[in-house]
Formats: sequence, structure tokens, C-alpha cells
Amino acid sequence: MFSLQPERAEDAPAIDTLMDHAFGANRLERTVYKLRLGAPAEGLSFVARQDGAFVGSIRFWQVEMDLGVPGVLLGPLAVEPHLRGKGIGKALVGHGLAAAAKIGHGICLVSGDPDYYGPFGFVAADPLGLKLPGPVTPGHFQIKELSPGWLALARGEVRRPFARSMVAA
Ligand SMILES: CC(C)(COP(=O)(O)OP(=O)(O)OC[C@H]1O[C@@H](n2cnc3c(N)ncnc32)[C@H](O)[C@@H]1OP(=O)(O)O)[C@@H](O)C(=O)NCCC(=O)NCCS
Repeated sequence: MFSLQPERAEDAPAIDTLMDHAFGANRLERTVYKLRLGAPAEGLSFVARQDGAFVGSIRFWQVEMDLGVPGVLLGPLAVEPHLRGKGIGKALVGHGLAAAAKIGHGICLVSGDPDYYGPFGFVAADPLGLKLPGPVTPGHFQIKELSPGWLALARGEVRRPFARSMVAA
């Protein structure tokens, strides 16, 4: 049986290796990585372990939209190939979303397969006038409201909160 725990600093190499394997070594060129610079969102990086060994990871990143509306971007998410299809991915996503809602985040965004994320309550983000800062696979950009009322506020291009501070400065 696996368990979910907060990510520790020493998990980083195993996470990088898993993500390189899952998404390819050129994964850092994908649009979402423009939003995954610096440290992940506080308190929202989790790993799955089985018999003490690292078997999966999920991270989230603080972002903002027009008018400074905040949100978190889910990803990357991956499970070790030999343990896929056993509910670990679903558990990581459910745990991460619950933790994000508990912290007080109102919106979660993701770029991923709608067949996978739809059951968690994600819906297409493009019809709401939201954009990522570059191309993604059509239909993959999705949003989930974590707290009532936030979806109506989500508009515009998603960016790192830091970028706005730089402009303001
Ligand atoms: C996607 C991934 C994280 C899922 O983890 P997992 O532990 O294998 O998933 P689970 O066992 O929790 O499966 C949950 C459900 O999603 C389904 N599912 C798994 N991968 C899927 C995919 N790529 N697309 C659609 N559905 C998928 C499963 O069939 C299962 O459905 P069920 O509950 O109706 O049986 C894992 O396959 C993985 O690491 N893939 C490579 C990296 C990746 O694609 N990450 C997601 C980026 S969007």
C-alpha cells in the first residue's frame, strides 16, 4: 500500500528523473514551465511512497490572472511506470486539490488530458477567456473552482505573481 506525504528536499532528484522519463528531457520547453520557475506553491508538493520508496509526485505553482486574481497551477504529476493504474495518481490529485482548498486557494488550473482531469471537476478554461503564456495541446487547458465564486473572477493571461511585482517595481 502507498502513502502520501509532503515532499522533502531529498526527493528532488527522484522527482526530476521521473518527470524526465514521463514527459521527455525537453519537458522544460513546454509552456507550463514558464509558470513553474522558482519554488512550488507553499505546502502543496506531495509524494507517494510505497514501502518507503518514492513512487509518485505532484506539485502546484502559484499563478495569477487579470486583476491579480490568484490561483494555483497543477503539475507536473507522474507515477512510476510499474505502479500506474493502481490509484496513486488519483490519490495525489485528490490530496493536492483538497490541500489547496484548505489553504484557501480558489482556483486550480492544469494543462493535461481532459479525460483524466474531468472526473476531478476540471472544465475547459479557454471559453472563460483564459490563456496560458504560449501554446498547449488544444483542449488541455482546464480550470477547477476550489471555493465558490472564484470561477467568475478568472480571466486573462495566466502569469507568475512575481512578473507583476517586477512590472510594478
Ligand atoms: C497520468 C498518471 C499520473 C496517472 O496515474 P495513475 O496512478 O496511473 O492513475 P490512477 O491509477 O490513479 O488512475 C486514475 C484513473 O485515471 C485513468 N487514467 C490514467 N491515466 C490516464 C490518462 N493518461 N488519460 C485518461 N485517463 C487516465 C485510469 O484509467 C483510472 O480510471 P478509473 O478510476 O476509472 O479506473 C500516470 O499514468 C503517469 O504518470 N503518466 C505519465 C505522466 C502523465 O501523463 N502525467 C499527467 C500529465 S497530464
